Amino acid sequence: MPRIVRPTAYGTPDVLAVTEVPVPRATGDGVVVEVRAAGVNPIDWKLYGGAFHVVDDDHKDAAGIAASMPAIGLECAGVVTEVGAEVTGVRVGDEVIVYPVTAAYADYVTAPATSLLAKPAGLGWAEAGSLMLTGTTAAHALHAAGVGDSDTVLVHGGSGGVGLMGVQLAAARGAKVIATAAESNHALLRELGATPVVYGPGLAGRVRVAAPQGVSAAVDFAGTDEALDVSLELVADRARIASITGSPRRAAAGIKELGYGPGQDAGTEVRKAARHELVRHAASGTLRILIDTTFSLAEAAKAHEAGLAGHAPGRLVLIP
Ligand SMILES: NC(=O)c1ccc[n+]([C@@H]2O[C@H](COP(=O)([O-])OP(=O)(O)OC[C@H]3O[C@@H](n4cnc5c(N)ncnc54)[C@H](OP(=O)(O)O)[C@@H]3O)[C@@H](O)[C@H]2O)c1
Repeated sequence: MPRIVRPTAYGTPDVLAVTEVPVPRATGDGVVVEVRAAGVNPIDWKLYGGAFHVVDDDHKDAAGIAASMPAIGLECAGVVTEVGAEVTGVRVGDEVIVYPVTAAYADYVTAPATSLLAKPAGLGWAEAGSLMLTGTTAAHALHAAGVGDSDTVLVHGGSGGVGLMGVQLAAARGAKVIATAAESNHALLRELGATPVVYGPGLAGRVRVAAPQGVSAAVDFAGTDEALDVSLELVADRARIASITGSPRRAAAGIKELGYGPGQDAGTEVRKAARHELVRHAASGTLRILIDTTFSLAEAAKAHEAGLAGHAPGRLVLIP
């Protein structure tokens, strides 16, 4: 029987459980994809960690899981196994990247055909299954901050999942990139085209030394007060500061808050379009997708613990 990983309750990673489910069927404009790799992202543990919205109800399914529990796993890649009657241009056997998608910590997912992109032949499964959520987020942030070839952009959290994408995409646009990270990650950031600086007290001064010409835009993938304060200090135009984490201070500062919370810009069309740019860059090698660790489906809780603890640069990926 196909397996799926789901949170059985709100809480810490130990609430994750593998359960067996029937093979899903494709209907209408939908397809079924056999998952080869599913990216792990902070949103996954935030969804059942209670960061957003906790619903507790008595409607339990056959596995004893409340119907209101959130589905986790928001990106994957795999092989098409069935297409709905209304689908054109997709065939059984196609190797695809699926984004957006839900419930991707599984052997099979269903998704509308519009969520599929052809997987470049030379791209590995782990890379293909873990490039979209971070990549589209980074692309949205660079778009919102208006980053182009005449800019010096400060990337907060340049060594993280979103940050590694942001650094490379900004460099590909011709921008000069200053990126914050722990010292142990600086060699990697230099390789990817950025000037690294350590975050922490004195950050603004270090950025001034790294960019004597000034910083024209900032993208915040770290979400700290420091990232906000330094961005406000160094970037003259608040419309050119974008953050992917919301906070009352960010809202009050009048910067661009990107995401799915109240008052945030979801950037649906920008992110949708960015998927094609990401596939092109990944296929040509302009964009490197670094993999830290792969885990089996049964090790999903272990993957989340690694994510929560902080890990080496690169993606955490489930391989069913
Ligand atoms: N709004 C959206 O659409 C959206 C989409 C995706 C993600 N997010 C959110 O964005 C955040 C980042 O996601 P991610 O996947 O990139 O996470 P991640 O891979 O865990 O990366 C975290 C980054 O933060 C850095 N960092 C850690 N402590 C720091 C500190 N005190 N000051 C400055 N930087 C620090 C890390 O640097 P070192 O490792 O070098 O220490 C690393 O670069 C998460 O909160 C996630 O939920 C939002």
